[in-house]
Amino acid sequence: MDLKTAIETRSSVREYTSEPVPEADLREMVRLAGCAPSVNNSQPWRYLAITNEALRVRMAEVVRGRLIEVLPPDPGDEAERIAHEKLLEFCTWFGRAPALLAVKTRDYEAVLDRALVRWGLTREEAARLRGHPNAVSVGASVENLLLAATALGYASCWLTGPLVAARELESLLDIGAPWRLGAIVAVGKPLRETRQSPKKPLDDIFELIA
Ligand SMILES: Cc1cc2nc3c(=O)[nH]c(=O)nc-3n(C[C@H](O)[C@H](O)[C@H](O)COP(=O)(O)O)c2cc1C
Repeated sequence: MDLKTAIETRSSVREYTSEPVPEADLREMVRLAGCAPSVNNSQPWRYLAITNEALRVRMAEVVRGRLIEVLPPDPGDEAERIAHEKLLEFCTWFGRAPALLAVKTRDYEAVLDRALVRWGLTREEAARLRGHPNAVSVGASVENLLLAATALGYASCWLTGPLVAARELESLLDIGAPWRLGAIVAVGKPLRETRQSPKKPLDDIFELIA
């Protein structure tokens, strides 16, 4: 599959067949994810491939438990109840995917970050001023991963909703400082034919300053 086709056919898929994803394919996806650009080529990522079903189910359970704690116990009306159910599903369906790639990330401190902090900014202010290069680098790598999965004939979905239970997930996955959980990517063979969700027309997203 050429790159343009992979870009144009990738879509977020949330229902998969039970077909396992071989380790060799997961390794190839991660190899290609590792080709992404990153701030100062820091490559602030490591991928945990999770094929163990019991662990995937447990991960989804801890996210569900956390959300139930966070959401008001008594939704005001039917519409709010449905919205809560949708949110629970949005953040926990990944437990049914045949494979997960959990992205661990760690902060990279560039010379300019240190200078800005010495100059009086907080770390958060410095990161904002620099365009959050760490998070953006991880995003570039995850997009590579999604496109690699597409090219290898898999469907995928990038999730950050489960990070509401980041602390619990990190403990479950044995992720300790300086690493933290950055995102989860679900991967598998799609249950049905997929189609990319509608995207804005080019003229809505392109401006030329000549
Ligand atoms: C940073 C990020 C976080 C996302 N988190 C979730 C998530 O927690 N659960 C989920 O089901 N989809 C999640 N998605 C998928 C988006 O809902 C999806 O990309 C969007 O609806 C556009 O659809 P498409 O990917 O098919 O083009 C996330 C996507 C991104 C880029």
